[in-house]
Amino acid sequence: MSDILIASEAGVTTITINRVARKNAITAAMYAAMADAIEEATTDAACRVVLIQGNEVIFSAGNDIEDFLNKPPAGSAAPVFRFLNGIATFPKPLVACVCGPAVGIGTTMLLHCDLVYAGDNAAFSTPFVNLGLCAEGASSLLMPHMFGYHRAAEALLMGEPFMAEAALEVGLVNRVLVPSEASAYAHAQAHKMAKKPLSSLVETKRLMKMGQQTQVLQVMKEEGATFGRMLNEPAAKEAFGAFMDKRKPDFSTL
Ligand code: COA
Repeated sequence: MSDILIASEAGVTTITINRVARKNAITAAMYAAMADAIEEATTDAACRVVLIQGNEVIFSAGNDIEDFLNKPPAGSAAPVFRFLNGIATFPKPLVACVCGPAVGIGTTMLLHCDLVYAGDNAAFSTPFVNLGLCAEGASSLLMPHMFGYHRAAEALLMGEPFMAEAALEVGLVNRVLVPSEASAYAHAQAHKMAKKPLSSLVETKRLMKMGQQTQVLQVMKEEGATFGRMLNEPAAKEAFGAFMDKRKPDFSTL
């Protein structure tokens, strides 16, 4: 079965991350499939809302670390940047349903969603510093804006997970649900939205995002260039090597 499942029903396109054996870690091919689905949803008149989900126990372990080592994203046309740009500029409503761990881009992609529903088992984390990397997905701009600077600094500089209730408190999620009910609730909300006039949804979203859109894309470009450089530096090499060897990284000389 494919690692990314796409299904459409009554105006709602659902993208399901489905690589359970690897905790839904996302490879370049998976970013490409999701970027294609977002592009198609933009132009497909039958699509009115997109919903992104994992399953009841895992949203995503973030970028596949082996892929980072073997096929680091090269340039702005890399699938990961195509996906991030796609969700950052997606004109129609974007809904997410998150249960279990949402690591790295698993959390930062939510900053570009309009509605986020979480299971009470959701654990969000942005451990870029712990991997010798830096913030991505415009999180260096949007997290301080949404969370307040100090809470964003705790998430981005410490990289420690925060749970669903804390995510609700900072405004990252709209509602916390029992995991077995989260997907049905998120779908019900998406379908409710899909019945509203699309032009009103699109214009209202555009107006809400307008003030920050240029800055979001600028920050994402700067983050992407920095992230790309840092992927090849010693701290990231040590972190990825440690992950593959199942040991703690040693940053004492870095
Ligand atoms: N890239 C590649 N493989 C990954 C992965 C990732 N991001 N996350 C998990 N996996 C693999 C593990 O290596 C493991 O492989 P194995 O069965 O061959 O040993 C398998 O998926 C299961 O992961 P495991 O860690 O045993 O699951 P868990 O339920 O104990 O923990 C997570 C789940 C998501 C909390 C944990 O896997 C994790 O922290 N992953 C790394 C997240 C990360 O740093 N992502 C990069 C962000 S930029």
